[in-house]
Amino acid sequence: MQLLDGTAVSAHIKAQLKTEVDILKVNGGKIPHLAAILVGNNPASEAYVGSKVRTCEELGFGSTLLRFEPSITEELLLIEVDKLNSDASIDGILVQLPLPKHIEENAIINAIDPLKDVDGFHPISQGKMMLGQPTFLPATPYGMMMMLEHYGIDVTGKHCVIIGRSNIVGTPMTILMSRNTNPGNATVTLAHSKTKNLKELTLQADVIVAAIGRPRFVTADMVKEGAIVLDVGINRIDDATRKSGSRLVGDVDFDQVAEKCSFITPVPKGVGPMTICGLMKNTLLAAKGKKALSN
Ligand code: GUN
Repeated sequence: MQLLDGTAVSAHIKAQLKTEVDILKVNGGKIPHLAAILVGNNPASEAYVGSKVRTCEELGFGSTLLRFEPSITEELLLIEVDKLNSDASIDGILVQLPLPKHIEENAIINAIDPLKDVDGFHPISQGKMMLGQPTFLPATPYGMMMMLEHYGIDVTGKHCVIIGRSNIVGTPMTILMSRNTNPGNATVTLAHSKTKNLKELTLQADVIVAAIGRPRFVTADMVKEGAIVLDVGINRIDDATRKSGSRLVGDVDFDQVAEKCSFITPVPKGVGPMTICGLMKNTLLAAKGKKALSN
């Protein structure tokens, strides 16, 4: 079994991005600037946004964090998005999800200028991705593809079972894994909470992408010998042996499943750091301007 080390791969990619930024600085190019909107104080969202902003600093990107009370209205949030859309110093905009229930997430996502949609959640970004046109790819699936590429894992013709159909991970991952690229060309099955014969499917899988948001959901009896397992889950569970009283686990029962795999991502330090790389790559692309994305 080989561990797919998100920390090591992301360090490698971040070093490349930093070099690109250093060159932009020398040549007087546009330094990428990411604006993040955080509504409320959900601890997980705080942690994610914090690490996105810290990574910007590490790479020499500019960053702006806009924080709002959970009571902010949809109307006011739309105005804030619009301000960022028309601010030429801002290249990328991300609105950390989830938003409070009274705000329609789609209304906010749809309001982001697609040329600044570095999360790749806007319908134009998703539509272009689906058609194989240049666009911002959603950060987590993009990060997983970079991980496969880095390790030279060829998934051509392999059966990939994706568990979870979210708009930001499972559904776009079906597109990236099945399209005619390298990595890609896999045969994809999208399973979800209503799938009846899940174990039957996962036992046929050469690649499993677990993105269902349930702690240690994928158990060893569901995994074929030699499978490649990518674990997107980040679940906090109680653990009395830890000082904090809790710890993070993925959607995969790592200790049992790892023994059967050819490759597996750990949690933490697997897919998580790769997601940030995806976002940073998109932000650099956004700073490079419209030309890179036009078609
Ligand atoms: N919430 C969970 N994952 C993400 C992500 O990749 N981007 C944003 N904006 N919110 C999220």
